[in-house]
Amino acid sequence: MASNSPEKNPRRKSRYTADRAQPGAFEGETVTRRGFVTGGALAAGGIASAAFGLPALGFALGPLFEDGTKDPWQDVGPEADFNPETYVSKTINIQAEVGEAGKSTIYVRKYDPKQDKPSPSDIEQKIEPLPYVALSTRCAHLGCPVRYYRDPGRFVCPCHGGIYDIQGKVDGGPPVRPLDRHYTSVSPDGRVMVGERFSVNSELRRFLPRDPSNHLDGLWQYLYPARPST
Ligand code: FES
Repeated sequence: MASNSPEKNPRRKSRYTADRAQPGAFEGETVTRRGFVTGGALAAGGIASAAFGLPALGFALGPLFEDGTKDPWQDVGPEADFNPETYVSKTINIQAEVGEAGKSTIYVRKYDPKQDKPSPSDIEQKIEPLPYVALSTRCAHLGCPVRYYRDPGRFVCPCHGGIYDIQGKVDGGPPVRPLDRHYTSVSPDGRVMVGERFSVNSELRRFLPRDPSNHLDGLWQYLYPARPST
């Protein structure tokens, strides 16, 4: 049987640097100082690269592992909380992944067939009215939060004096379209559910959500390209 010892098997290299006649070798050393320093520098470089590279990789690949089937509906309370006469403010998550910063206020009231006339396009396409009116508080001028005043039933924007009527239609000031809305429904156990946001023009015809200051009426809608909101 062949021996593993270098003395008995000359083809096998010794583990000691001095035996291997390496430059700068010391008696009893298995790694030269140059080898040790080079290895240490490579390891430190690898750790530093990982510290920068791994978070970037996580950001890049994270969305691939996110649940893409998020439920867009949010519970804003029992039907008993709402009425057709006035709005109740509720907080919803518009960007769940950023925590508290992703929350926003909306105003909700029960649909009232006497004052909430459906848009001509809804009538034409036989689209059923939504059971609740849920208005976004983001002003359609530059996005400041509007506030509802029960008496005289107007939304007022503190930034440049934009005013909206009880349906969220522009009643004065610089906003270019009505307040955005959210889809609404009622769950089988009587809870009011608020869904995704949509924009409306002055006739309350529905459009995909747009950014503030994006026109949806008249010549302006053709002069300025549609700017879908995120
Ligand atoms: S942001 Fe509301 S009126 Fe300008």
